[in-house]
Amino acid sequence: MGVPTETVYGLAAVATLHEAVARVFTAKGRPNDHPLIVHVDSLEMASRYGYVNETARELATRFWPGPLTLLLERTPLAGDDITGGRETVAVRMPRHALTLELIGLCGEGLVAPSANTFGHVSPTSAAHVVDDLDGLIDAVLDGGPCTVGVESTIVDCTGDLQVLRPGAVTRVDIENCLGRPVSETSGPSRAPGMLVSHYAPKARVTIAGTGAEAVGISASMRVRGASVVVIGDRLDVVEYAATLYGMMRDADAAGATQIVAIEPEGEGLAEAVRDRLRKAAADTAGGSTPVE
Ligand code: TXA
Ligand code: MG
Repeated sequence: MGVPTETVYGLAAVATLHEAVARVFTAKGRPNDHPLIVHVDSLEMASRYGYVNETARELATRFWPGPLTLLLERTPLAGDDITGGRETVAVRMPRHALTLELIGLCGEGLVAPSANTFGHVSPTSAAHVVDDLDGLIDAVLDGGPCTVGVESTIVDCTGDLQVLRPGAVTRVDIENCLGRPVSETSGPSRAPGMLVSHYAPKARVTIAGTGAEAVGISASMRVRGASVVVIGDRLDVVEYAATLYGMMRDADAAGATQIVAIEPEGEGLAEAVRDRLRKAAADTAGGSTPVE
């Protein structure tokens, strides 16, 4: 079932029901060794799936419910089907009343990858989920448009603290909470599939630095006969993140062949938006394989 969260819509299944979990992989067309995030309604529930150390406890206390996923050592309840055979499990408590209520009713964690088909842009509305997965899933719980719009920050709490995927909870937020430095991942990521490209629309994405540059690039593309959509012009970063995937989907629906994206400046959420834009640009450049 599709479920709303503050970041993107997820495709949910009860974490301990192996058949349901298997159907999530089938519906998305996602490779079986790609691990899933377990969505919980409390730190107590998280502790059933992963061992909550002091760092994880502090972060969860400060940022949950919210767009922060914690990577923990897994307990025996976290099966190979949700961890892809790893010794770690990803857990987060989403900030959405409907989904928290659903988790409470189930009394168990819900695995939920983004509810898009493998390789496509994440969904930020119930309609996006239907566009991708109609006929493949039973239902979508419509909780309105996602307020954050980009996937949760993932932080590895199992060893040296590391941000594996940037999101709305920033590295600086985490450092301020814990009072010690945190590294941003570099080199091969421990979260499989995050450094290779994905989050891609059909249209080719070109990144422009400034508004003036975007006008120039889109003009030259129009000369070459492409159907161009410019995104990110005159948007503050919160609105940019919230509407990013919707703008990409709209461009595809309008038959655009090129998207010119203006990069937001600054730290924090802007880094997460730039990260997703670069992945979309890398993917549509035809270089590498999409992975989520
Ligand atoms: O905001 C979000 O996190 C959304 C909403 C629905 O909660 N979910 C989401 O799930 O983005 P998904 O499956 O599209 O991305 C989860 C990421 C993947 O890159 C996966 O590799 C990583 O989390 N991940 C999950 N479990 C992991 C583990 N045990 N070790 C390393 N990476 C893990
Ligand atoms: Mg995804």
